[in-house]
Amino acid sequence: MTDPIFTLHQGLLREAPGSDATTLRTLGEAGIHGAAQIADMGSGPGAASLVALRALPEARVTAVDHHGPYLETLRQRASAAGLSARLSTRQADMADPGFAQGTLDLILCEGALYFLGVEDGLRTWRPLLAPGGRIAFSEVIWIRKQPDEAARLFWMEYPQMTNRTGVRARVEAAGFRVVSDFVQPKSDWEDYLGPLGTRAEALRPEADETLRAVLEGAAEEVALFRRWGDNYAYAVFVVEPA
Ligand SMILES: C[S@@+](CC[C@H](N)C(=O)[O-])C[C@H]1O[C@@H](n2cnc3c(N)ncnc32)[C@H](O)[C@@H]1O
Repeated sequence: MTDPIFTLHQGLLREAPGSDATTLRTLGEAGIHGAAQIADMGSGPGAASLVALRALPEARVTAVDHHGPYLETLRQRASAAGLSARLSTRQADMADPGFAQGTLDLILCEGALYFLGVEDGLRTWRPLLAPGGRIAFSEVIWIRKQPDEAARLFWMEYPQMTNRTGVRARVEAAGFRVVSDFVQPKSDWEDYLGPLGTRAEALRPEADETLRAVLEGAAEEVALFRRWGDNYAYAVFVVEPA
């Protein structure tokens, strides 16, 4: 039986708040150019991989995700865009992604580092970086000092969630320094939640009980952001070994 979460997410282009413009800004702030070796960890269907391949015509991108169908979607999209030659996909655990030490100029990770935890993830990936290599990740943060109760209750599912200063502290605790960080625009949430909400609505009439519970979760995420989205944001952190 297909996991109802994947039924909901199938066919979506993004699996976290983000946009092509934000990925482009991230690449610029990371100072990546030329024949860079890039890993897109937790790539999902690969929106960031595609932006990097387009923006950096000599770069090679390896997309890593443990969910094979996302990688298949990415391969199809890359092929349609004529970008396959510089793309590799790797179905693997990003905690042990199998890259040789000292080989990556950029590790990109949009909306997925929380699965490993900021500190653990950065420590795990550090040996993979080439000299001068950087890591750029995005992470949900609190932007209001005293978040509203409804937002706080929803985000109890991610108890490690902190604010911008808190993420910076974790970066430093992992032995890195922040090169640049910025809060993503609210429209990055719409790019993610808009299609998610539309798909949830389309699946609802035929959904069985299990799928319905997942659809309600998605509807709640959309509604929460529309009502309480001033409490939290996604932010990008570009970091390098200290
Ligand atoms: C919230 S989604 C973000 C996907 C993509 N970066 C984007 O912005 O559209 C998180 C992704 O991380 C992947 N993932 C989670 N834990 C993982 C792990 N330990 N190893 C590899 N992939 C993982 C999931 O399959 C999912 O595709």
